[in-house]
Order: sequence, then structure tokens, then C-alpha cells
Amino acid sequence: MNGTFEAKAEGLLRKTVACAAMCCAFVWIGAAQTQEPAPAPLPAASQGGRLDALAMNLMPMPASVQMGNQRLPLTQNFAVALEGYKEARLDRAVERFLSELSRQTGMPVARRAADSSKAVLIVHTAHASKEIQDLDEDESYTLQISNLGAKINAANPLGALHGLQTFLQLVEAAPGGFSVPNLYIEDRPRFAWRGLMIDSCRHFIPLEAIKRNLDGMEAVKLNVFHWHLSENQGFRVESKTFPKLQELGSDGMYYTQAEVREAIAYARDRGIRVIPEFDMPGHSTAWFVGYPELASGPGPFAIERRWGVFDPAMDPAREETYKFLDKFLGEMAKLFPDHYFHIGGDEVNGKQWDANPKIQAFMRERGLKNNEELQRYFNQQVVKILEKNHKTMVGWDEILAPGLPKDSVIQSWRGSKSMAEAARQGYRSLLSNGYYLDYMWPASQHYAVDPMTEETASLTAEEKARILGGEACLWAEFISPENMDSRIWPRTAAIAERFWSPAELSEVDSLYRRMDAESARLEFLGLTHKSSYVRMLGRMAGTDNIASLRVLADVVEPVKIYQRAKTARAANIVQTSADPLNRMIDTVPPESEAARLFTKEVDALVSGNFKDKALEAEIRAQLMVWRANDAALAPSLAKSFLLMELAPISRDLASLGAAGIEALDYIDKGQHPSDAWKTQQMAVIEQANLYKADLLLPMSPAIQKLVESAAGVAPGK
Ligand code: ACM
Repeated sequence: MNGTFEAKAEGLLRKTVACAAMCCAFVWIGAAQTQEPAPAPLPAASQGGRLDALAMNLMPMPASVQMGNQRLPLTQNFAVALEGYKEARLDRAVERFLSELSRQTGMPVARRAADSSKAVLIVHTAHASKEIQDLDEDESYTLQISNLGAKINAANPLGALHGLQTFLQLVEAAPGGFSVPNLYIEDRPRFAWRGLMIDSCRHFIPLEAIKRNLDGMEAVKLNVFHWHLSENQGFRVESKTFPKLQELGSDGMYYTQAEVREAIAYARDRGIRVIPEFDMPGHSTAWFVGYPELASGPGPFAIERRWGVFDPAMDPAREETYKFLDKFLGEMAKLFPDHYFHIGGDEVNGKQWDANPKIQAFMRERGLKNNEELQRYFNQQVVKILEKNHKTMVGWDEILAPGLPKDSVIQSWRGSKSMAEAARQGYRSLLSNGYYLDYMWPASQHYAVDPMTEETASLTAEEKARILGGEACLWAEFISPENMDSRIWPRTAAIAERFWSPAELSEVDSLYRRMDAESARLEFLGLTHKSSYVRMLGRMAGTDNIASLRVLADVVEPVKIYQRAKTARAANIVQTSADPLNRMIDTVPPESEAARLFTKEVDALVSGNFKDKALEAEIRAQLMVWRANDAALAPSLAKSFLLMELAPISRDLASLGAAGIEALDYIDKGQHPSDAWKTQQMAVIEQANLYKADLLLPMSPAIQKLVESAAGVAPGK
């Protein structure tokens, strides 16, 4: 970030200014008019004294940051005052802020100032936000921190909530104690719809786990919780009108209406909308256990235990189906106050429709030529019910069909092509393709996906305005309350930044540095992505001494996309919701930090022609740990069924460690290895690249790079 440049993008003028020696101030200047009065001048920048905004632990990065060069100390005298518009939600936000600050610092800070003159942080809010949070809310805020105090200015409580989280991210243990840097931030989101979808159906997610993830969403300024509540594998909400839905369709694992209200209130306190999804007409087996008459095929039905796309679908040809939905959706429309309502609409295979003579006759009568047209007819009836209840329909790609009301929202899971198509046809849309958390992608891969690139890049400005944002999606085939946080966090912080921050922010090293800091903060907030990893390893090891198991665990990753299901199918194993999720694949994070850092180091060593001896020593030390680990770990692997499957991959890790060390030995001695040696090492790498225990060794390409360098082959050739 050295030098001066300008870039116009998304209505933002970005500038770096006043580069001083090694450090430079970093300013994102919003071109939009600010309602704020001009900020008081910051302390003058001194040579080398400025801080770089990208070096701060801010995530998502604000639209505009102007750094000062001094710090505001945070002591136990820290106190907060609210100014301007007041409401109970803001009081609770301040209480929560103080408790989070106390947890982050380990220093009790509990003071609400009696008036602004005694406050260190003043939060000024101009007016209320809407009673039902909407898409056009002003979520902007400014945060000014000087030596004397700090002030958050926001149009409404939503901006104030965001400003408080930004402040918490700035708290650091500096040499003189905890403090925050002097700065001026002007911030507003790039997209109005920044969501996380949680599937509570395939595995039930208790309310407590939902709540702590809402805390995480608030921390990274996500504002839509999309709650996937009905599926083949479970119907998860209490219906008072049709109680057999939850009584027979949930194994007793559902949210009562009181719990739903509690979650909605909890979310609203955090500036988050709750959008329910009741998937129809497919993905609906669990409805039919209690109400088989809704289905297109003959019952009886049982809760589905397997994974995949299944045949049961609602009967679109019966008037009674719509009478049922009219009552049910009417009940749910009252329970969920948001203006938007998700009806799913995905993956109807049509087999029950094809096999039902009455449905076939209905289609002929109505001139419906195929199953897509039949689903369109179904959606049109559902839209009427939603409209009657003042709800706007949201659905997956499949709902996009002629006749769909123009205010409907399309959620694109199949690619940006369908999202662009929706926008061209006049529909608003959301991107989820590229943000599927169950793909087990690294954060950088999700971060590289942008709702405005690929197909959408060619849209007109008017069409682009219909792209509302996106949602990360957590599908729950292999999710439990124990491991869900590590599938969501910290990667969702990277996706949240994509939705909030200026588009051109793309630097991956900065992403990982800031995401690591946010990850630590999220654990303080009560998320369990770090602690559950250690706890689950302890269960596998049967002891607290997990040192050698952790060496292996730290460097493996779950297989990607749906390879886990493919491998099981190939072995004729039927995976079900009864399968315990206690294997290594369920335990390790989607992305190995150790492998990522090792790969980065090897890249640097190779591109620097092996001249950096300190770096080489670090790489060697890591390789030696890996080479030695199997000898320490192997005896315990044989003793437990939870560990047994890891024996081959533990051996692979040792072999990769040995290959890397031998490669470095050749390079250091300036000797050329024999062809036989190279062939042998490539066989080791090939073996390590085969999935074992549904895991992979993501640093294997880096070892290959070392081997190829030793053999005198340009790496990657
Ligand atoms: C989906 O993944 N079927 C929305």
C-alpha cells in the first residue's frame, strides 16, 4: 500500500495519501455526501508515526479510514454515554459492548456515563430505524477517536451497532496498556443484503447455538439470518394450526414459537433480519409424515434419514394443498415479521408428479406442458398467499419463470449466470453460489467470489442495482452443534467483508491476518470454533495429551465439495443423519493454517532461489516435526476406532516430511539427485494426494515444489 493512486469504483474514490517513510496513512474517501459535520482535525501525522489502516484488525474493512498517529488509552475509567435518539435496544447494545470489552481485555469495564461530559465514548444516534428492518435502511456510521475520547455518529441504531463493533475490533494491548488508535472512519455497506443461511433441518441446531452465531454475525456486520426450517429430514418449527408438522416431522427437535420469537428479538437487537425458509414443493418429506394428503405420491411417509434429492413433493393439483398453505403460511407470516419470506423451490425432481394420473390430468386440463410449468403454477398460488400476508417471495434459482411477480427475489445457488439473468429480467437477486460453507473451501476462495463479477459484470447500471448482495450457506448434512462454528467461522468473516467493504479490497495476506485477529475475538464472544476443535481432538485421543494427534490434525483438511458423499457412495455406504460426527473430518477446520503458512514459506523460498537460510531453517523444522510424528502417533492410532482410519495418512505425512528434507539436503549440498530418487518422491506425493479418511494433505504441492526444485525441474512443469 505504498505510493499514491486513485481508483474509481462503486461510487467510491479510493486514495492513499501522505505516505511517510515505511508507513502510510490509508484513506478510503467516500464520494457520497456525508451527513456528518466535518471531523475535528486529527493529531498531525509525524514522519513514520502514521498507522496503516490495513494493519488494523478491522474486518470488514470500513469504506473510509483516516489514521492518526496516537492512541486513546482504555482504562477501567472507560465509560459510554448515549446521545440523541434513545431506545432500549441501544441500552442493551451498550451493555453488551461493555461486557464484550471486558471479556476481550479481561478488565472489568461496566460503566455507563451519567452524561456525555464524563464519557470516553459517546454514541450519538439521530433517529429510529424502521420497526421492521428493511433493505433501504441507512446502516452508515462514523467513528472518530482522538486522544481525548471517541464518538460514534449514526443515523439510526443500526449504524450505532456497527460502529460499536468496529470500536471493539480496534482494541489492542499496546505497550502502555489497552488502547485504540486515533482515527476517523466513515463507513457504510456495499450491499444491503448480507446474509448467513443456517440449515436447522438436516441436523437440528439448538437455539443457544443459533444465538451465539447471531453474535458472530453482528461482529462482522452481517444483517440477514436466513433460517432453513423445513426439509426432507425435519420440520423444525412449532405450528399451532398443524401440530403434526412438528410432532411427527421432527423427532421432537423443533423450535417452539416462543423460541422463534426469542431468536428474532435477539437478532433484531443485533441489527439482523430473520428470514424463514419453508422449502416447497420439494424437499418436503417431513411435512408429509403428519399430513400425507399434501403429497403427490402415496404415503405413508417417514422422516428421511439419508442425504440427497428425494421424490416426495407437494401436490400442486389439489385445491386442499393451497388451503393448507394458506393457513400455514398465514400463521408463519405472523410469527416472522420480516417483509421477505423464502419458499425454497429448489430441486424438484418431478417423479411423483409424473407418476400421478390426477396431476397429469390436471396439467392437460390447464395446458401446463411440463413440470417446470406445473411448479410455476404452484408458485403463483403461493405468491398470492404471501401477498395477502404482505410478504415478498424469495426463492432459489428454480423459481425464476415467466409470470413471477417482479418484486420477488432470486437466490442464486447454481451460478452467477442465473443471477445475471434474473437481474436482466427485472428481478432482484442474491448470490450464494461460491459461498457454500459446506464446500470446505479456503477463505481466500470464497473471498475471490464477488456478486458483481463474472456474468453480472456485463449488466447495465440499472440491472446491477438489482443485485442485493449475497448469503453464505451452511447446509447441515455433516453439521452438529459441536462443529458448526468451525464451519462458519472464521471464513464467514471473509465473506462478510466481500459483502460490506469496497470491491477492490482483495489482498489475501491482509485478509488472513485480519481474519485471524477476528477469529480470536469471535472466540471471546462465545463462539466455539477454536475450543471445540481441541475438545473433539481430546475425545478422539481419549486423553488430554493430544500433541502428536494435533500435529496431524493441524495439517489435514476435509475433502472438498461433496467428495465425502461420493466416496461413501462408491463404497456402497449409505450415510444418514444417525451417523456420529466424531471423526477427524468432522473435527478439523475446513482450512489448515499450518499448511497455508508452510505453502507460503516454500513459495517464498523457491522464488528467492533458496537464498533465505533463516526461512529454510523454519521450513526444515516443520518438515522434521512431520517426519517424526508418525512414530509418536502410530501406537495410539491402533487403539481406538476413532483413530484407526488415520494410520495411512499419518504415514503419508511422515513420508512427505522426509521427502521435503531430502530435497533441501540436495539443494543445500548443490548435488543433483538421481532420477530414481525423483521417481520415488513423486510416488510418495502421488500416494499422499489420494484421499484417506476423507482427508487431504493440502501442503503436498509445496513438497512437490521442493522435490522438483532439487531435481532441477522448474516447479509446476
Ligand atoms: C440448494 O443448494 N439446493 C439450494
